[in-house]
Amino acid sequence: MPTQRKMRSLHLNIPQSFNNPILSHFTFTTMASVLACIVALLCVKRGKASPTTNTRSCVEIEVPVSIDTTAIKWLQPRVDSNVDAVDWVTYQTTWTSPNMTDSMNGTITVKQTFKINGQLCVPPNGSSRSGILQLASHGGGFDKRYWDAEVKSKEYSYVDAALAEGYSILTYDRLGTGRSDKPNAYDVIQLNVQVEILRQLTSLARSGKLVSASKRLSGSRDDRLAKYKPSKIVHVGHSLGSILSVGLITKYPTESDGIVATGFLHTNIPLPGLNVATWGFEFARQNNHVLFKDHGSGFLVQATKSNVQLSFLKKGSFEPALLDYAWKIRQPIAVGEFKSLLTAFGTKGAKFKGPVHLVIGENDYGNCGGDCKGTYDLNMIKTQIYPAAKDVAVHIQPKTGHGLTLSTNATAGYKASFDFLHKSGL
Ligand SMILES: *[C@@H]1O[C@H](CO)[C@@H](O)[C@H](O)[C@H]1NC(C)=O
Ligand SMILES: *[C@@H]1O[C@H](CO)[C@@H](O)[C@H](O)[C@H]1NC(C)=O
Ligand SMILES: *[C@@H]1O[C@H](CO)[C@@H](O)[C@H](O)[C@H]1NC(C)=O
Ligand SMILES: *[C@@H]1O[C@H](CO)[C@@H](O)[C@H](O)[C@H]1NC(C)=O
Repeated sequence: MPTQRKMRSLHLNIPQSFNNPILSHFTFTTMASVLACIVALLCVKRGKASPTTNTRSCVEIEVPVSIDTTAIKWLQPRVDSNVDAVDWVTYQTTWTSPNMTDSMNGTITVKQTFKINGQLCVPPNGSSRSGILQLASHGGGFDKRYWDAEVKSKEYSYVDAALAEGYSILTYDRLGTGRSDKPNAYDVIQLNVQVEILRQLTSLARSGKLVSASKRLSGSRDDRLAKYKPSKIVHVGHSLGSILSVGLITKYPTESDGIVATGFLHTNIPLPGLNVATWGFEFARQNNHVLFKDHGSGFLVQATKSNVQLSFLKKGSFEPALLDYAWKIRQPIAVGEFKSLLTAFGTKGAKFKGPVHLVIGENDYGNCGGDCKGTYDLNMIKTQIYPAAKDVAVHIQPKTGHGLTLSTNATAGYKASFDFLHKSGL
């Protein structure tokens, strides 16, 4: 089976519980997505809560998120320099290195409160969909600015597009990125922890206390933000953020009303993006000690703009200004996230009853080896991965790479997801 062969060659072997071919498939793809997303973005001068306009109603908040869960003690080399970073990549891809199961050396309790930086925006008054909240999780390699391009925002900003469609939207910096906390990159920043954070953000938002329970940093005084209480929550993800969103409905099938998983597909081919060697990683702080001064041991970042292009963009479907933007907003990823990629999944995802939209760029390199045509079986995805889902569809965005929001024709892709959601009353 290709996935097994690939797994072995990459030393990302899955544990026995994932030996089911469907799950192998699933986790494999997911992993690819994750890796595919792993490029970083942060920035020298972080934008304000509303980078693109002062007319929209947004507030930037610091959300206290308390979690109590377990993480895994992984056996892996430490990364405290560029030499270590290359050694780490070599270790992950050396065929005789321990597989995933053999890399686990016990569990660790993570009982902590993290500061998570978020941006909540509500559409203009009178929108019929303002009660539907899109909760967007960005992928590896970036922070929440992935969703909200400050360059040509009309053509690229997902936040603007969602607001124009009448949705409310919450974006946040994944733990370890942007303005969120950056705890231990080995033992704390892992998939299970990120899924719990997403769950807590979801619960807080549903309770109507998201803003009142948080520290308000900047943005609009619109009263609707302080009191915002959604009636429905759709989880939107990109790459690693899609893995987290699917991880959420896997563990907590009733906590979401709909999933839009972008840069994500359950494929049946070997995935180049799973090979961490394609990412061109360096130790974040050594790569740029100004941008990544808060990122300590164990944080990796793509070394060059060309590395970012390889992972996220396809020649012919991106403007140079957007590659510049991607490079500017790059963010580190924690080694603990790589090691734990497969642990976000189990068998319960099958119970999710909402609609699932899977969106992938036709030329996604990390997920499809550069060409997604013929790499997946929609019937298998529907019947075996999301058997209880109300509706499942795959949208292939033409001539586009992994970085969907950074590619030309991006808004036409957003529209495809919005239209899909509307069919389910979302
Ligand atoms: C991991 O490797 C060990 C041998 O070191 C083997 O017994 C085990 O089956 C492997 N696990 C998987 C999931 O391949
Ligand atoms: C596994 O963890 C234990 C402590 O819990 C430690 O003594 C041991 O050295 C670790 N194993 C390896 C291979 O590092
Ligand atoms: C939106 O409506 C609220 C009351 O329903 C009002 O206070 C606020 O000024 C309105 N905002 C805009 C931009 O019209
Ligand atoms: C833009 O995207 C839409 C939606 O996927 C698609 O129908 C259209 O063909 C695309 N346009 C180009 C020029 O690729």
